[in-house]
Amino acid sequence: MLANWSKTTTLRVVKVALFLAALVPLLILIQRIVVGDLGPDPGQAITESLGKAAFQLLLATLFMTPLRKLTGWAGWIRCRRMLGLFVFFYAVLHVMAFLQLILGWGDLWATFTRRPYIIMGAAGFILLVPLALTSTQKMMKRMGRGWKPLHRLIYLSSIFVWLHFLWQARSDVSEMVIYGVVLMLLLLVRVYWFGVSSLVPLKKA
Ligand code: HEM
Repeated sequence: MLANWSKTTTLRVVKVALFLAALVPLLILIQRIVVGDLGPDPGQAITESLGKAAFQLLLATLFMTPLRKLTGWAGWIRCRRMLGLFVFFYAVLHVMAFLQLILGWGDLWATFTRRPYIIMGAAGFILLVPLALTSTQKMMKRMGRGWKPLHRLIYLSSIFVWLHFLWQARSDVSEMVIYGVVLMLLLLVRVYWFGVSSLVPLKKA
């Protein structure tokens, strides 16, 4: 039976597992809403848990390329788009929860420019929009060489979002620092790989 276990099956199993894992924060949140376990400020609790899910999935998305390098399995890259779309999904819910449950849909310009941490969040969110819109195979083909540079905006977005996360902290920032170290490592390995790959032709020459 194991002999029939193909690469496609492995990819399917990993994709389904990641899909279900990405739904867990939403299911936990729904369960907390149903049992009324949201603390004294439900609006803030909902907004925070959706933001946290978006950021954690953003880090998970950035993990896919290092995982491929470390394991040699190209399937991780095939899971990246799905995780990226989940980031956008949670980010949209996060912003909608903020507007609906905290500040209202009144003067949106004033809302989004009110505080530095909101400006950072909005910048991170705006950068996610073109990535989500161009995530289909069709768009990838249509954009050709331009697709990859555009999708590098994810790095800038992740930095804005981390600053947003750090800035909104009231006192203890240890959690934000841990996430920051993880993000920094994920970005630094890319700088390292980019440096190594750009040096290889020079060495050969
Ligand atoms: C227009 C865009 C955004 C707005 C208006 C916004 C707003 C907010 C607000 C009001 C909070 C809660 C602050 C508090 O507790 O007082 C928050 C926290 C947070 N947001 Fe955003 N946000 C935006 C974009 C994003 C994006 C794109 C992400 C991630 C991809 C994100 C991730 C987070 C995280 C991780 C937290 C902290 C949650 C926690 O403390 O557990 N936000 N945001």
